[in-house]
Amino acid sequence: MKIAVLPGDGIGPEIVAEAVKVLQVLDLPLELESAPVGGAAFEAAGHPLPDATLALAKASDAILFGAVGDWKYDTLDRPLRPEQAILGLRKHLGLFANFRPAICYEQLVGASSLKPELISGLDILIIRELTGDIYFGQPRGRRTAADGHFPGAEEAFDTMRYSRPEIERIAHVAFQAARKRSKRVTSVDKANVLETFQFWKDVVTEVGREYPDVELDHMYVDNAAMQLVKAPKRFDVVVTGNMFGDILSDEASMLTGSIGMLPSASLNDRNQGLYEPSHGSAPDIAGKGVANPLATILSAAMMLRFSLQQPEAADRIESAVQAVLAQGLRTADIHSEGTTRVGTRAMGDAVVAALSSSKTKATIKG
Ligand code: IPM
Ligand code: MG
Repeated sequence: MKIAVLPGDGIGPEIVAEAVKVLQVLDLPLELESAPVGGAAFEAAGHPLPDATLALAKASDAILFGAVGDWKYDTLDRPLRPEQAILGLRKHLGLFANFRPAICYEQLVGASSLKPELISGLDILIIRELTGDIYFGQPRGRRTAADGHFPGAEEAFDTMRYSRPEIERIAHVAFQAARKRSKRVTSVDKANVLETFQFWKDVVTEVGREYPDVELDHMYVDNAAMQLVKAPKRFDVVVTGNMFGDILSDEASMLTGSIGMLPSASLNDRNQGLYEPSHGSAPDIAGKGVANPLATILSAAMMLRFSLQQPEAADRIESAVQAVLAQGLRTADIHSEGTTRVGTRAMGDAVVAALSSSKTKATIKG
């Protein structure tokens, strides 16, 4: 099982190091190989996604990704900016299905900006289409306007588009995921205004007929943004396009109070996947040893479950994370009175220790 390890920028290297530590104590035949990505790769090789990094990613069963980006690269030409690395990996590996769980950990209920009763027990799965929509739609660019409100003026444009197969495959992913959960799918669109999303709604409805056991409803994206803060527990699986999914998944993750805890997975049709924390590169705290490595560690668990077919190992990691939370260990982002504040490395060590003790127990029992 070959894993490409791409730590990236900011806190990326620190948090990925902890996830690697966890993977290494699992006694699994994992082959890990690291490569630079994002701003780090721009510094080292002049490009955010060097050919060698892309080749390694393609040749691997899974990619463990940290984060990319730093304000200091904001003035670079767009193709050289760190973000292009993640967009390029999604595109070149065809990682169209993005899973972004938003879970409220019971111990962290107090860290949310919402009232505890609104989010206690929250467990939403946002499934974001990741290789289409206005993110990748051609044509795009700058030109002189031929029409519109100001003919002859300089203008910029992007293209929002979705084909039937693109919508069908992400809809199947959503319905199948819902079958393993509470069997409800909310498809988020803007069918009242956009042709692309009227089509989206029609196609999702058609696919939904193949899943009579799953309840499907449709919601406009503005209403969905509102419902997420008003009554988030009404959602189970949310499926939406690339742009709306980008926005709603940030909103959902923040209201759990646990953004430092949320993993994500991006899969292609061969179950090859890229696994990364839902949070970003946080350059302001980079190198200080205070970042929360748990989202990355939980991303490694998702990797074992989805791409490497090692569900027991995934369960063990998730239990170990629960155990360190139960011990009261907290990094700065989730710290509250009465808990023990620890740094990045100590948190990773605690997960490793919890894993080792669970193994000892298993051996004694068996
Ligand atoms: C995300 C990020 C990316 C996106 C950026 C870094 C290109 O915001 O993964 O949500 O917009 O998809
Ligand atoms: Mg985003």
